[in-house]
Amino acid sequence: MFEIKDRDAMGRIGKLKINNHKIETPTIMPVVHPNPKRQIVPIELIKKLTDVIITNSYITYSTPKLKKIAEEKGIHELVGFDKVVVTDSGSFQLSVYGDIDVEPLEIVEFQEKIGVDVGTMLDIPTPPDVERERAEKELGETLRRARASIELKKEKNFKLLLNGTIQGSTYLDLRRKSAEEMGKLDFDIYPIGAVVPLMEEYRYKEVAEIIINTKMCLPTNKPVHLFGCGHPMAFALAVALGCDLFDSAAYALYAKEGRYLTERGTLHLENLKDLDRFPCSCPVCSTYKPKEIYKMDKKERTRLLAEHNLYVTFEEISRIKNAIKEGSLWELVEERCRCHPKLLDALRVVRKYMDFIEKFDPVTKKSAFFYSGYESLFRPEVLRHKKRLSRIRFDKIYITTVSKKVEKPYSDNVNIMHSDVDVLVIDDVFGLVPLYIDTFYPLAQNEIPELFEFEKEHNKPYVKEFIEKHKDKILDINTYNYYINYYNSEANKNKINPDAFRIKKMLQYQYGCDIVDDELINKIIVKRSKTTGRIRYVMLNDKTLFSIRSYDNLLIPTEEGAKLLHKKIPYPKYRVVVNKEVEEFAREGKSVYAKFVVDCDEELRPYEEVLVVNEDDELLAFGTTLLNGKELMEFNYGIAVDVRKGIK
Ligand code: GUN
Ligand code: ZN
Repeated sequence: MFEIKDRDAMGRIGKLKINNHKIETPTIMPVVHPNPKRQIVPIELIKKLTDVIITNSYITYSTPKLKKIAEEKGIHELVGFDKVVVTDSGSFQLSVYGDIDVEPLEIVEFQEKIGVDVGTMLDIPTPPDVERERAEKELGETLRRARASIELKKEKNFKLLLNGTIQGSTYLDLRRKSAEEMGKLDFDIYPIGAVVPLMEEYRYKEVAEIIINTKMCLPTNKPVHLFGCGHPMAFALAVALGCDLFDSAAYALYAKEGRYLTERGTLHLENLKDLDRFPCSCPVCSTYKPKEIYKMDKKERTRLLAEHNLYVTFEEISRIKNAIKEGSLWELVEERCRCHPKLLDALRVVRKYMDFIEKFDPVTKKSAFFYSGYESLFRPEVLRHKKRLSRIRFDKIYITTVSKKVEKPYSDNVNIMHSDVDVLVIDDVFGLVPLYIDTFYPLAQNEIPELFEFEKEHNKPYVKEFIEKHKDKILDINTYNYYINYYNSEANKNKINPDAFRIKKMLQYQYGCDIVDDELINKIIVKRSKTTGRIRYVMLNDKTLFSIRSYDNLLIPTEEGAKLLHKKIPYPKYRVVVNKEVEEFAREGKSVYAKFVVDCDEELRPYEEVLVVNEDDELLAFGTTLLNGKELMEFNYGIAVDVRKGIK
């Protein structure tokens, strides 16, 4: 029972219902030792920080004293935690010791018996770089156990939710196969397994590729857990690639070795001891000086370091959630990936998969696009602009450069902007930006420093290819001043209303369709803001069709506008189709829930303005989709379309 509340990149703020508890993702489960005597950080502090922990069912099973308590009083009582308790199955012990003493179904049954909220199947964590034959064989066994575990759960009506772990070693096709096969089974959460050895060696690039390849083949409506990733430095990237859950034993393991976690990497107490205070303000670091902790006995020192480690771990999760809410997750990822060159390697490999990632990245964000380096050139916002540029039906193209001194949006600051000519400005980051759409997010909402020459080279082949492809339509390629001369001499002859022309092109870009046809072009008028002079409303015969939203300049339809879109855009484009059951709710303007979606435009991206229709393509409502095309079909919980208005 998982729904998306907010999103950025492939990251999502989700609500996950587990038994009677709701937890918000992304989040991290601290690893708690089933033996309370071996627990380093007091459970009271853990309770303050989180609603969900993970502990180990195999240690519980194989330690008679713990087993007895767990069987009699339940796992919650054993660990002293009354909210969500997740357990691992002993697979990790299997990967470390090579053998464990329990049968695959026995441990699933045991987890149910001791009242675990989310249990884990006994998967086989195949290490990196093994022979393919071994990886295949072990994956086969993991899949057999997965099917048997799900069958057992169904047959015996188990209450617990189940983790179905993705394996496949470092073979990406095996990871995809694993995700494909596991996705067919009804697991509740999909952890990505056997990445610990990669993380320990800082092989983040391979971890990133494993995450993406797994995500490509998993159902979108289930949360994904990155097993054994406990370093806060890696969270932002993992969340941006679609991981929802993490677990951390690192907070305690690192503390035992005098290591002090930060979101930028690991420090050593040894090297901090001469600072007058710690570079952190958590309760531990604001109470003690480094030297004080350094001089404590090992047990006390470890506990305090572990507490600090836990505080910064949760702090980073909060920072990531905030970045998702404000639409600045890529900026945070780019920042974090500069903390270690191996993380930068991981960020750089992500561009190979941008075509896939772009499908999940929101079309509009509250924060401006900040350029942080060469990698920013490959961001989904840039790729999407290039894809959507081809939606425009060009007539007469004039390609130009605009002086650096002119602020964005150019169309606010250059005298004459368009007539019936497609004036395209060469842009170092976005490639080519038509003046008539240059107010759209992120074409105006960006901060880009003066680029190096090699960065400016990046888009040259792209521009060249565009020119080659459109050579029949290109009037000229020159400076903007030259265009003004041209405009004064030639294009004044045209009779088209430049505002209507602009709206026509904006709608082509936003909806991929010609809404303002030859019949409408002479009837469309606009209203401008008295203060900024920008277009605020698009009108037809005294009725408002669209308003232009101030922060991203997207065209937001009114009822009249939605009807016009419905008439002009062919089915199923820009449609979310709902079943009969909810037709009346939609007409009343109520939100559309994912469960009732029966079809949609599969190319939809999150936060697009869409039409809600019934199976006969009658317009019921219009609003903003929170899900992309794939998710609209796969999600069963939560809101799919935030409806602006119903149509009676
Ligand atoms: N903890 C860390 N890695 C793994 C894994 O691959 N499988 C399971 N079950 N637990 C893990
Ligand atoms: Zn601290």
